[in-house]
Amino acid sequence: MGKTCFLFVAAVWLLKCCFIASLDSTVTNLTTDQSALLAFKSQITIHPEDVLANNWSATTSVCHWIGVSCGAGGQRVTALNLTDMGLGGTISPHLGNLSFLASLDISYNSFHGNLPEQLGHLHQLEELFLNNNSFGGAFPSLLGNISKLQILNIRYNSLQGEIPEEIGNLSNLKLLDLSFNQLTGSIPSAIFNKPSLEFIDLTANNLSDSLPIDMCNHLPKLETLSLSLNQLRGQIPLNLCKCSGLQILSLSDNLFNGSIPREIGNLAMLKELYLGGNRLKGVIPQEMANLTSLEVLSLRIGSLTGPVPSSIFNMSSLKVIDCKNNNLSGSLPVNIQYHLPVLEVLDLSSNQFSGQIPSNLWECKGLRSLLFLANGFTGNISKNIGNLTLLKELDLGQNNLTGLLPEEIGNLNLERFWVDENNLTGVIPSKIFNISTLKLLTLASNDFFGRLPSNLGNRLPNLNIQLPITNADLLPRVWRRISHHELLRATNAFSESNLLGTGSFEYGTEGIISTRGDVYSYGVMLMEVFTRKKPTDELFSGEMSLKYWVSKSLHDGSLVEIVDTNLIRKEDVNFSTKMEFVSSILQLAMDCSIDLPDERIHMKDVVVTLKKIKVKFLAITERA
Ligand SMILES: *[C@@H]1O[C@H](CO)[C@@H](O)[C@H](O)[C@H]1NC(C)=O
Ligand SMILES: *[C@@H]1O[C@H](CO)[C@@H](O)[C@H](O)[C@H]1NC(C)=O
Ligand SMILES: *[C@@H]1O[C@H](CO)[C@@H](O)[C@H](O)[C@H]1NC(C)=O
Ligand SMILES: *[C@@H]1O[C@H](CO)[C@@H](O)[C@H](O)[C@H]1NC(C)=O
Ligand SMILES: *[C@@H]1O[C@H](CO)[C@@H](O)[C@H](O)[C@H]1NC(C)=O
Ligand SMILES: *[C@@H]1O[C@H](CO)[C@@H](O)[C@H](O)[C@H]1NC(C)=O
Ligand SMILES: *[C@@H]1O[C@H](CO)[C@@H](O)[C@H](O)[C@H]1NC(C)=O
Ligand SMILES: *[C@@H]1O[C@H](CO)[C@@H](O)[C@H](O)[C@H]1NC(C)=O
Ligand SMILES: *[C@@H]1O[C@H](CO)[C@@H](O)[C@H](O)[C@H]1NC(C)=O
Ligand SMILES: *[C@@H]1O[C@H](CO)[C@@H](O)[C@H](O)[C@H]1NC(C)=O
Ligand SMILES: *[C@@H]1O[C@H](CO)[C@@H](O)[C@H](O)[C@H]1NC(C)=O
Ligand SMILES: *[C@@H]1O[C@H](CO)[C@@H](O)[C@H](O)[C@H]1NC(C)=O
Repeated sequence: MGKTCFLFVAAVWLLKCCFIASLDSTVTNLTTDQSALLAFKSQITIHPEDVLANNWSATTSVCHWIGVSCGAGGQRVTALNLTDMGLGGTISPHLGNLSFLASLDISYNSFHGNLPEQLGHLHQLEELFLNNNSFGGAFPSLLGNISKLQILNIRYNSLQGEIPEEIGNLSNLKLLDLSFNQLTGSIPSAIFNKPSLEFIDLTANNLSDSLPIDMCNHLPKLETLSLSLNQLRGQIPLNLCKCSGLQILSLSDNLFNGSIPREIGNLAMLKELYLGGNRLKGVIPQEMANLTSLEVLSLRIGSLTGPVPSSIFNMSSLKVIDCKNNNLSGSLPVNIQYHLPVLEVLDLSSNQFSGQIPSNLWECKGLRSLLFLANGFTGNISKNIGNLTLLKELDLGQNNLTGLLPEEIGNLNLERFWVDENNLTGVIPSKIFNISTLKLLTLASNDFFGRLPSNLGNRLPNLNIQLPITNADLLPRVWRRISHHELLRATNAFSESNLLGTGSFEYGTEGIISTRGDVYSYGVMLMEVFTRKKPTDELFSGEMSLKYWVSKSLHDGSLVEIVDTNLIRKEDVNFSTKMEFVSSILQLAMDCSIDLPDERIHMKDVVVTLKKIKVKFLAITERA
């Protein structure tokens, strides 16, 4: 009895052994793999250093070829990794003969053409990286036959058509990245029935329709769901809260409507939430504050209304709060502790917030960007702002702030600072001009007065300064537009930064802001810019001052002789329009630099006149 049993087991073992052996030798073997790889190589047309040409030679074993790994006892090719080798061409269908291949990585090359259906024969495949190539055509439905596939990454290609239902056959799939393609149609429901999935990224395709209302019933392991930049519509399903392991949820830039479901507050693991760029209305739900791991809350661009729940300012994990461009209103809570120790970005731009900026807010010492542009904030800027030593970007423009600009701003390491269109007053603290990191300063439309430090251009060589109404506020914008029309071709000397630089024009020495004297120097500046002459030029001896020289040319019609030839030449298109433009500006300059202060044009009128000149000029040249 025992003997029979042994014989039986031995027979089965032998049968099994021979069967596998015959499968190996008669169907495929290492020679088959070599043929498949040589066929693959023959369709590679771009190979910068001929790496494969010299290395993939039939005289050495494929197992020693670059990018090739063998396994299964050294008998078969199990991995092919040619990532980032600058290769291009199409994919040979013979690649499908690598029947033991477990990992294929040809990412970051420039392969193109369709993905052959034969890839679907790679039944042992567990990882497939095709990202960052130029594959087009349809998604091969046979990929759905690779039941062992765990990672499918086709990010950054040009696949078209619909995602086939067969994708649902990939019962071991953990990571699915089809982002940045041109896929259309709805998301196959099969994707939502894949309990193995941990990561789904379909960002930036052309996927449409609504999400299934039961989308999260079968996705217990899902950690990342990115569906941004598609055409998805309908409401955000409440069922989303069943994807309780979600850490990143991105639905931004779609056509979702309705409100933000309170149920989102149940996603306790959530770290990043992006819902902006949709048609979401209503309020930000209180329940959001239940997300105690949340680091990024991005609700930018929508129609959200009401206040930001005060509990949100107590979420100590938050790094980014971005509510830009909504209709949020109300004031920020004043009497709460802003417990946001790691907050880096707070963007409330373009809403309808009002009331004071709470002085507690300045205790959020991690802030790098604080953007409050275009709201109705009132009150003073607290000197506590000096506590924000990491702040790089501060935009308080277009609010209703009053009072002085606190000296403490000079303690910051700002790179960009806007405070234009407020009702601030007083002298601009000179410390601000000592901020060596500063690249952009926009102070326009306030009631500042005082004198700018001399040698400003020296100290802040990269500074693009937009000063109160007087100086750079309008002019550089005019410059930019003119240069667009090639009026300023090849005149680096007149770039914005050089207006203040040391080059041809030392603005700082004359720069007095918002006084009658300022109007005078503004007029002189205009003359200098358009004639490219300084009052100290040797040309101007005795009576022949710069002012007189310009005035004379305006009257005797010789203006063209004195205007900087880098700006205008007779052969220019639109020559007469440009001359008219310069003539109007220099006439204005004359009005600015009348000797008697009381007879000088008022700065407000200078602004109005400049605007008119600009509008007229642009109207004419843009029509042309
Ligand atoms: C591989 O298989 C082919 C036919 O499929 C056969 O001709 C060849 O001898 C085999 N090579 C080895 C090394 O087994
Ligand atoms: C790949 O396999 C197919 C089908 O078995 C066969 O016709 C083809 O010749 C093979 N290709 C190579 C390069 O071996
Ligand atoms: C091919 O490249 C691999 C890895 O760089 C190297 O080990 C091997 O010797 C090369 N083979 C030939 C034939 O050049
Ligand atoms: C392929 O090789 C690169 C480094 O050369 C490595 O970073 C990458 O993870 C490899 N791909 C796979 C699928 O192992
Ligand atoms: C991948 O491709 C995208 C789009 O072409 C590009 O923006 C990205 O930098 C690429 N990544 C790498 C590492 O080359
Ligand atoms: C792919 O899978 C389907 C369904 O199981 C099966 O009918 C078909 O034969 C498979 N095709 C290949 C090439 O493996
Ligand atoms: C593969 O998917 C198709 C379409 O969903 C289905 O009809 C087929 O039965 C699936 N095959 C397997 C092997 O799961
Ligand atoms: C995306 O889909 C919309 C309609 O759903 C269509 O109008 C548009 O042409 C598509 N764009 C691309 C690039 O396929
Ligand atoms: C969620 O937040 C609401 C309102 O803030 C609160 O009543 C509720 O207890 C919270 N739920 C959980 C699970 O923390
Ligand atoms: C500033 O305040 C004035 C007067 O209170 C008001 O008319 C104006 O709308 C406010 N501007 C902004 C931007 O809130
Ligand atoms: C913030 O700055 C103010 C004034 O500069 C100072 O009195 C206060 O102690 C600072 N707060 C913290 C928390 O450092
Ligand atoms: C701010 O200045 C504007 C324009 O000068 C004025 O209409 C507005 O009433 C002022 N607002 C406050 C709060 O002073």
